Formats: sequence, structure tokens, C-alpha cells
Amino acid sequence: MGKFQVLDHPLIQHKLTIIRNKNCGTKVFREVADEITTLMAYDVARDMPLEDVEIETPIQKTTVKTLAGKKVAIVPILRAGIGMVDGILELIPAAKVGHIGMYRDEETLKPHEYFVKLPSDIDQRQVYVVDPMLATGGSAIMAIDALKKRGATNIKFMCLVSAPEGVKALQEAHPEIDIYTAALDERLNENGYIVPGLGDAGDRLFGTK
Ligand code: URA
Repeated sequence: MGKFQVLDHPLIQHKLTIIRNKNCGTKVFREVADEITTLMAYDVARDMPLEDVEIETPIQKTTVKTLAGKKVAIVPILRAGIGMVDGILELIPAAKVGHIGMYRDEETLKPHEYFVKLPSDIDQRQVYVVDPMLATGGSAIMAIDALKKRGATNIKFMCLVSAPEGVKALQEAHPEIDIYTAALDERLNENGYIVPGLGDAGDRLFGTK
């Protein structure tokens, strides 16, 4: 079973409180969601492989560590996932960015993929799938299905807020995936919103309603 980690550093908790507040406007929501994602990425990247490199300091030659160059792909689930891309790029600027778009069939309520554009070497990359809200888990499960179908093997999932229902569904569908969240909330309501959550993450990030 993959890891399930609530990244509850005090700075993350404080910043999440700012964006949960319904009085937080689009500009601040976007900026603070970015900051939370950067703080999370620091921990999510903890297992990045290192290798030895010989350098010369002003004092002497020495062997020290450098990133082994395992390439990263950030894959936001459209649309709200876009709000978590820049926060990761802040720390891993050379990462490539793929996109996966899903829509929910109004009748069956099942998600369908309508857009998938990934780096061509996705099978070689450490993939970070990002979506602010892990609610039912439907979109995350389908996005990871789509990635696996195209050869990705090394996948982590990052969200800001999760519901127990979504975590369970994602763990059942893709048990090997590591899941990172800034908060595990109480439940889903009858409309599929996370309680207490932060509302519709896409609308809050992009100022739509
Ligand atoms: N998607 C959102 O944007 N918010 C929720 O609470 C659940 C799903």
C-alpha cells in the first residue's frame, strides 16, 4: 500500500485556513494555494534520488550530492489542478507539465476523459498528479488510469483537501500510489462537496461562479 500523508505543517494549516474562509477573494486564494502547494512539494520530493558529484569549493575538492536527474512531470487534472502547478514549479522548475481533462456525465455521474496531453517520455518520469479536492476520487482514479495506460509507473497524487470517501476509493483503485493532502476533512455532502472543505476550488481559483 502506498503512503497516505496529511502534510499538516503549521504554515500549511494556517494558509489553508485563509483559503477555506468564504471571504477570501480570488487573488489571495490563488496566491495562497500556490504557497501551500510549494510547502507540500518540499515534503513530497523528499525521496528524490541523489548521486555523488565531485566539485571544487574555494578550499578543496570534495564529493557532494546532486539530484540524480530523475525527471518530473506535473499533471494537473483540469481545471482546478492548474492552481497547483506553479507552486511545484517554484521548487522543480525543470519539470514538464501534462494535462488531463475530465467531465462528469450528468446522468451517470461518471467522469470521462476528454483531453490528455502528456510529455512523450511520461514512462520515464516521476509523475505528480495534482487536483486541489479529492472528493469522490472519481477524477483522480480516471486520471491515474489514463496515465498508466500511457506507460507511467511512478505516480504520486497531491491535493489540498481530501474526504475519507475519496481517499478510500483512490486507495482501492490504485493501492500503490502515494497520496499527499494538506487536510483530511469530515465527509462529502449530498452534492459531492467536501465538508467543511473550501467550496468549488475551480470557481474560487478562477473567479467563476
Ligand atoms: N470539487 C470541489 O471543487 N470542491 C469540493 O468540495 C468537491 C469537489
